[in-house]
Amino acid sequence: MVGRSQADRNQLPLLLLRLLCLLPTGLPVRSVDVNRSTDNITVRQGDTAILRCFVEDKSYKVAWLNRSGIIFAGQDKWSLDPRVELDKRSVLEYSLRIQKVDVYDEGPYTCSVQTQHHTKTTQIYLIVQVPPKISNISSDITVNEGSNVTLVCMANGRPDPIITWRHLTPTAREFEGEEEFLDIQGITREQSGKYECKAANEVASADVKQVRITVNYPPIITESKSIEATTGKKASLRCVANAEPIPDFEWYKDDTRINSAQGLEIKSIGNRSTLVVANVTEEHYGNYTCVATNKLGVTNTSLYLYRPGTVIVDNGSTSMVASIWLMAASLFFLFCKC
Ligand SMILES: *[C@@H]1O[C@H](CO)[C@@H](O)[C@H](O)[C@H]1NC(C)=O
Ligand SMILES: *[C@@H]1O[C@H](CO)[C@@H](O)[C@H](O)[C@H]1NC(C)=O
Ligand SMILES: *[C@@H]1O[C@H](CO)[C@@H](O)[C@H](O)[C@H]1NC(C)=O
Ligand SMILES: *[C@@H]1O[C@H](CO)[C@@H](O)[C@H](O)[C@H]1NC(C)=O
Ligand SMILES: *[C@@H]1O[C@H](CO)[C@@H](O)[C@H](O)[C@H]1NC(C)=O
Ligand SMILES: *[C@@H]1O[C@H](CO)[C@@H](O)[C@H](O)[C@H]1NC(C)=O
Ligand SMILES: *[C@@H]1O[C@H](CO)[C@@H](O)[C@H](O)[C@H]1NC(C)=O
Ligand SMILES: *[C@@H]1O[C@H](CO)[C@@H](O)[C@H](O)[C@H]1NC(C)=O
Ligand SMILES: *[C@@H]1O[C@H](CO)[C@@H](O)[C@H](O)[C@H]1NC(C)=O
Ligand SMILES: *[C@@H]1O[C@H](CO)[C@@H](O)[C@H](O)[C@H]1NC(C)=O
Repeated sequence: MVGRSQADRNQLPLLLLRLLCLLPTGLPVRSVDVNRSTDNITVRQGDTAILRCFVEDKSYKVAWLNRSGIIFAGQDKWSLDPRVELDKRSVLEYSLRIQKVDVYDEGPYTCSVQTQHHTKTTQIYLIVQVPPKISNISSDITVNEGSNVTLVCMANGRPDPIITWRHLTPTAREFEGEEEFLDIQGITREQSGKYECKAANEVASADVKQVRITVNYPPIITESKSIEATTGKKASLRCVANAEPIPDFEWYKDDTRINSAQGLEIKSIGNRSTLVVANVTEEHYGNYTCVATNKLGVTNTSLYLYRPGTVIVDNGSTSMVASIWLMAASLFFLFCKC
């Protein structure tokens, strides 16, 4: 807040005394009876302000002053500012009109009316309001999980806007404190997403801007399912991994890397990879490994393509399924030996 200090107000009587010496006075000034009353007028930046002043007799000497000087003395314009003019709708009116008000116009204005015996003044304090506007906000950022992150949001406005932060997705959490800075220590993957900065004052609707935080983390396989497949049919093994950035997938059969060839096809889209066996044959049965990799790490899981008739007790526990497949495999080899 600028310009509403006591010092500014105290300068006015001095200015007035100076003005009285400058004004062409017919009569000697006997007493300076300064009767002041202050009114506030509030105007939005860019609007027109009208500071009202009326006289009881049109022969009285009148003037408008601001903090630093005389604006009008009678009908004479002293100010060079083209935005300033008198607003006279009657002979007794001596109002001041300021167009396209700006913040530097804020301050005290004095209408001085000099009658035969004393000077009467009306003081008007012009308050200029400015809608909130975000001037600077952090750019979208990508960090690794565990990093300390500071977001900044700066706003202008009069009165000074109140700044609040909110995590939009996925938690919709409001942050306490009215701060330009939002500190997040040891950021987690759940804290990634859009953050909203809101700058609000009573002048106009709040200004809102967003910034996105991307939190990198290593892959975690969230879905993989062993399946039973009939020879001569098509079969698909699926593997889903959450990761940021999106992982690369590789598939292995036992220890051999699989390429999309010979009736096998790897289809990886986003978090999901599918190994498609176009025409299942005996050699396709067995142990497959899905490997998900991004720059922060690598993980894998094993899944199985079963012969039909294998008892599947796949309740999500791959180890359980593995032992069943092993059992089936050993039995198969046992039979072969005989
Ligand atoms: C100031 O003016 C008001 C009316 O405009 C009057 O009632 C009041 O008595 C005056 N005060 C002084 C100190 O002259
Ligand atoms: C003018 O504004 C100031 C500061 O906001 C306040 O203290 C004062 O009471 C107001 N005066 C009037 C007459 O509204
Ligand atoms: C006061 O008026 C003068 C003349 O119009 C102008 O140049 C100056 O900027 C004004 N000062 C304030 C504080 O409004
Ligand atoms: C925004 O704030 C940042 C950090 O304080 C600063 O480096 C940058 O220069 C600012 N940008 C603008 C346009 O003010
Ligand atoms: C994050 O901030 C905490 C507390 O200020 C500090 O102990 C830690 O070392 C910082 N971590 C990083 C990665 O800078
Ligand atoms: C699958 O492979 C078998 C043996 O190679 C072949 O006889 C059969 O026609 C194939 N089926 C399809 C749908 O390609
Ligand atoms: C990929 O994983 C991320 C992080 O869990 C998730 O937000 C996104 O929705 C996933 N995308 C797909 C296509 O499943
Ligand atoms: C399947 O293959 C993976 C990778 O080669 C291996 O770690 C795992 O032990 C195998 N599982 C069985 C049941 O053989
Ligand atoms: C799967 O992960 C295990 C343990 O981290 C590792 O020993 C193995 O080599 C991995 N397999 C593949 C095919 O990457
Ligand atoms: C799967 O079944 C086994 C044995 O019945 C049980 O111990 C295990 O908790 C189950 N797992 C899930 C994910 O339901």
